Amino acid sequence: MELCEFFLHLMTFLPGTAVNMLQEEAFVNHTAYLQCNFHNPDNIDVKELIVFWQKESEVVNEVYRGEELSDNLDPKYINRTKMDMNTWTLSLLNVGIMDEGQYVCIIQHKKSSGLEKIYDSKCQLFVIANYSQPEIVKLHKGTVKPGTALNLSCSSSWGYPEPTQMSWQVSKGNLTEEHVDQVAVFQDDKTKLYKVTITRTFQVPMDTHINISCLVYPTWKMESLVSKSLCIAPEPVTPVMQPIILPAVGLIAGVVIAGVVLVMVVRKRSRCNTSTSHSSQMGTEVNRQPNNKDEDLKPMTMQLWRGEMQSCH
Ligand SMILES: *[C@@H]1O[C@H](CO)[C@@H](O)[C@H](O)[C@H]1NC(C)=O
Ligand SMILES: *[C@@H]1O[C@H](CO)[C@@H](O)[C@H](O)[C@H]1NC(C)=O
Ligand SMILES: *[C@@H]1O[C@H](CO)[C@@H](O)[C@H](O)[C@H]1NC(C)=O
Ligand SMILES: *[C@@H]1O[C@H](CO)[C@@H](O)[C@H](O)[C@H]1NC(C)=O
Ligand SMILES: *[C@@H]1O[C@H](CO)[C@@H](O)[C@H](O)[C@H]1NC(C)=O
Ligand SMILES: *[C@@H]1O[C@H](CO)[C@@H](O)[C@H](O)[C@H]1NC(C)=O
Repeated sequence: MELCEFFLHLMTFLPGTAVNMLQEEAFVNHTAYLQCNFHNPDNIDVKELIVFWQKESEVVNEVYRGEELSDNLDPKYINRTKMDMNTWTLSLLNVGIMDEGQYVCIIQHKKSSGLEKIYDSKCQLFVIANYSQPEIVKLHKGTVKPGTALNLSCSSSWGYPEPTQMSWQVSKGNLTEEHVDQVAVFQDDKTKLYKVTITRTFQVPMDTHINISCLVYPTWKMESLVSKSLCIAPEPVTPVMQPIILPAVGLIAGVVIAGVVLVMVVRKRSRCNTSTSHSSQMGTEVNRQPNNKDEDLKPMTMQLWRGEMQSCH
């Protein structure tokens, strides 16, 4: 097409004159479909039409009298767009965050008397990238001691747009609390995708386990994402053997320690039994039998006490 026609069309487009305003969503790396929403009421032959798609001042696609031309396109749209003249839908391939924004579809009728703009419409494109399953990380090394503070962070990446909310869900016994925390946002310079993180200090309980999970609430009516749950249980107090000089003291100490250990084993077993009864869907039936041997319980309790990433069984 002639350059003058191109400029004429740029000038004839006045912001705010369009009536139609459509909204479309597309996933990053996928194809966006933008509707021109033109129904061609006068049944004009496409050979008499010039169809433009523009984003601000950039020309995204041009169909000149039925033929797609690339001469006037902004370089970043070359080979990325396809106009379907039957449905009046523009396909924009391999969408990135930068493609988000408002697109305008303009249709001109080429008559012998000149060009006449007969239609325009706007279409807002929203780009979405799914966040990963959030992951809880302990911010310091070592074992978890009862009554101490435990700092955790939870991150989810690389998504778009920013999530509406992130929170912790903490279960202790039959009580569940949700804590909404301020989200720290990191944006990748190139992809424009976000990594989101929350951190919180938890108090390790003295006597019972707590079950912590982290949630991300994305926008776009999508379901919230839930991390694997982290079970925090207090570490058992391991008796420290001191060198004992007097045999009598040693004997007494031995008896006391044996008693303590016995009490602890009994308490551990009863605790395990109560906590296994919570997980009716996933727990292995074997561990719940009353005639359990100590060997059956040991591997599980050992893991629990270290506060490893796992679900509470
Ligand atoms: C998009 O594609 C690029 C290149 O193939 C890839 O590196 C990136 O992970 C993809 N992004 C998403 C959100 O799928
Ligand atoms: C577009 O595709 C054509 C044919 O496949 C190719 O020759 C050309 O280099 C491509 N242009 C760009 C900018 O990718
Ligand atoms: C946990 O975080 C709090 C607040 O940021 C900090 O004061 C404390 O030293 C941290 N504790 C550990 C064990 O890192
Ligand atoms: C939660 O547990 C406590 C004590 O274990 C009990 O008194 C209470 O009734 C329980 N609440 C519910 C809703 O089950
Ligand atoms: C993103 O997640 C939603 C579910 O929340 C799913 O329907 C959709 O297919 C996912 N998209 C991609 C590109 O993975
Ligand atoms: C721990 O939390 C997860 C997620 O909320 C839940 O599926 C699991 O049943 C909980 N386990 C216990 C023992 O509370």
